[in-house]
Amino acid sequence: MIVYKYYIKEPLTLNRKSDTVFTMKTTLIKDILVSKPDGREVTIYGWVRTKRETKNLVFIQVNDGSCFASIQITLDRDKGISPETEAALKRITTGASIEAKGTLVPSPASGQAVEVSGIAIEVLGEAPVDTYPLQKKNHSLEFLREIQHLRPRTNTFAAVARMRSQMSYAIHVFFQERVFNYVHTPLITASDCEGAGEMFQVTTLDLNRIAKEGKPVDYSKDFFGKPANLTVAGQLEAETYATALSRVYTFGPTFRAENSNTTRHLSEFWMVEPEVAFNDLDANMDLAEEFVKFLMKWALDKCAEDMKFFDERIQPGIISTLTAVANADFARVSYTDAMKELEKNAANFEFKPFWGCDLQSEHERYLSEKVYGRPVMVYNYPKDIKAFYMKMNEDGKTVRAVDVLVPGLGELIGGSEREADLERLEKRITEMGLKVEDYWWYLDLRRFGTVPHAGFGLGFERLLLYITGMGNIRDVIPFPRAPKLAEF
Ligand code: 4AD
Ligand code: MG
Repeated sequence: MIVYKYYIKEPLTLNRKSDTVFTMKTTLIKDILVSKPDGREVTIYGWVRTKRETKNLVFIQVNDGSCFASIQITLDRDKGISPETEAALKRITTGASIEAKGTLVPSPASGQAVEVSGIAIEVLGEAPVDTYPLQKKNHSLEFLREIQHLRPRTNTFAAVARMRSQMSYAIHVFFQERVFNYVHTPLITASDCEGAGEMFQVTTLDLNRIAKEGKPVDYSKDFFGKPANLTVAGQLEAETYATALSRVYTFGPTFRAENSNTTRHLSEFWMVEPEVAFNDLDANMDLAEEFVKFLMKWALDKCAEDMKFFDERIQPGIISTLTAVANADFARVSYTDAMKELEKNAANFEFKPFWGCDLQSEHERYLSEKVYGRPVMVYNYPKDIKAFYMKMNEDGKTVRAVDVLVPGLGELIGGSEREADLERLEKRITEMGLKVEDYWWYLDLRRFGTVPHAGFGLGFERLLLYITGMGNIRDVIPFPRAPKLAEF
């Protein structure tokens, strides 16, 4: 196999220099904190974390979410505080929003290089102590899930939000640097990509009226003139562009109506799906491994401040875990050999493993944590437990699927080489109980200029769970959707 390496002239990575000029009304606390404490005048905008007073001094910690750290504003009554600012101080409690003017000076307090010597403070919005739910104390993650609209104002959820944004950016950098085109695949679709029937229906039919009438549903009267659903994956449509542009990826929301109430499943989650013409299963695994390692390095290098917080407060050791993954060679094992390892340990599993069974979470974790102690790629799964589009192996029993399993989490990625042969693909569609005519356009890709190709899907929230060390997938997406959960 020939390996081409791409070199780009200008790295796409965010590289802000100190002399960059932005035309924004405000300066972020992130930028002020790294400025020289040379007595220049600054204006701080943000939300008060804490206010503390001694006889003459008032200390206010303000955060604007641009970085983990807050900035301290210190006011000294000996130097004089205007009556307006004194009045404002009375209204300042945790959660209030303020605009504060002062000068940037070196901070005598430990842990911060600079602080603001306050001159004038204005309250933009109060946050009354008796009604504002986020007070100084530590709130449980369960409680914060009840107030999803306010939780980004906490250290933990602001850090998660910044990681989400950074990791989204990293995904684009990884693929754009390798000349993949970003394709926007539809969210409303008439075909079931995974063939698992776990789809949410999209309809404008009046369900109450139909129920009252007791007649069969006439879908020709529905909005699209036929049944339509929210997509479970962008892959099928991505394949149409991969077989034209060679390398593409989709990155968008996907929906699954599976009734899984676990800490790893959401009903609405984001998936990244690269699709590459001319790649086989091995090249697909190489890409997946390189991708995961790139993402780990990005988190460690570009998000160091937030990662320090996750390491100290959320999951001790997470930094060394990610560092190890970024530098490890991922293990590669066939499903059949993986099954042999699992059978040796059968007595310790709740679900007894056997050839042909889908890997359970406990099996996935045992393989990656106990057998290999690093990420492992399991390939060549039994055809009956995988989707119709996967390429059949010579043995007629297994397909060229691959799952990437990581310690502490289990499945992070699922993918395969695709069946490129028209007849075999039609046969698989029929065998799986699906209708060939529903996939006519997908089959055209095999009718006209068919090529070997492969791809995979990485669950974005699974990635974030892994990187942040958060315990529940509902805490790494702003507004989680799960069975019986769609508030906000
Ligand atoms: O393994 P899956 O179902 O694969 C696909 O959908 C393929 N179309 C991908 C492809 O080949 N282009 O899903 C891919 C990944 C899983 O490995 C997992 O990380 C994540 O999506 N995932 C979920 N994440 C959160 N909640 C759920 N209910 C998920 N289901 C899958
Ligand atoms: Mg899967």
